[in-house]
Amino acid sequence: MRRGIAAGNWKMHGSRQFVADYVRALDGQVQSLECAVVLFPPVGYLPLLAESLRHLDLDRIVELGAQNLHTEVQGAFTGEMSGEMLADLGARWVLVGHSERREYAGETNDVVAAKTAAALRAGLKPMVCVGESEADRDAGRAEAVVIGQLESVLARCGGELGAIAYEPVWAIGTGRTATPALAEEMHALIRSALANHSAPAAELPILYGGSVKGGNAGALFAERDIDGGLVGGASLKAEEFMEIARALPG
Ligand code: PGA
Repeated sequence: MRRGIAAGNWKMHGSRQFVADYVRALDGQVQSLECAVVLFPPVGYLPLLAESLRHLDLDRIVELGAQNLHTEVQGAFTGEMSGEMLADLGARWVLVGHSERREYAGETNDVVAAKTAAALRAGLKPMVCVGESEADRDAGRAEAVVIGQLESVLARCGGELGAIAYEPVWAIGTGRTATPALAEEMHALIRSALANHSAPAAELPILYGGSVKGGNAGALFAERDIDGGLVGGASLKAEEFMEIARALPG
């Protein structure tokens, strides 16, 4: 019912050469996957990545997304990109609410909800990231924080989103992955919160993110409510990213 998604968040990594090598490494592997594949390169490399995929006829298999967007369509917002511009460059997805943007760019739940609305306005599929910090978990408020983040988006935008990504902050880039059971517990909770908002809870993919690797992907994806992975570090190695994607059913 829900197709698996392997999503690669390159964060601020890459170069023209990296894009060329990466696409070459996907060729011959990505064609046999059952799951959907989405790549989130740094925005400046979107057109080159789109063109490189098209060149090898992989553009129908690999979808592209941006890591951020502005809420407005256009205007005097130096350094920003609108969802409409991202769509024009070939993006179909956009990350919103990634913990690094919440932390380094000060994005609050309200900003994340406004950006989700802007993504939908532009026809992009928002991949809405939620997740608690280590301090939240230690204080016993992990569930309240995650559901609070989710509900502020649902209250403003409804549930017709592209995907949710649960990414516990303490697991991002740390090598500390949530156990499959702990992740599943939060995914199931997220799914019931979606249902309470009459969102299409059964259809909306919920991805796990936080130190997903070739070696732990299979156990995570075996859980009932984990529909895929949002992969940072390990997505920079095309071979390992494909290994992760192969662990996902269609
Ligand atoms: P990581 O990052 O896989 O390097 O932990 C995940 C993410 O931030 O999306």
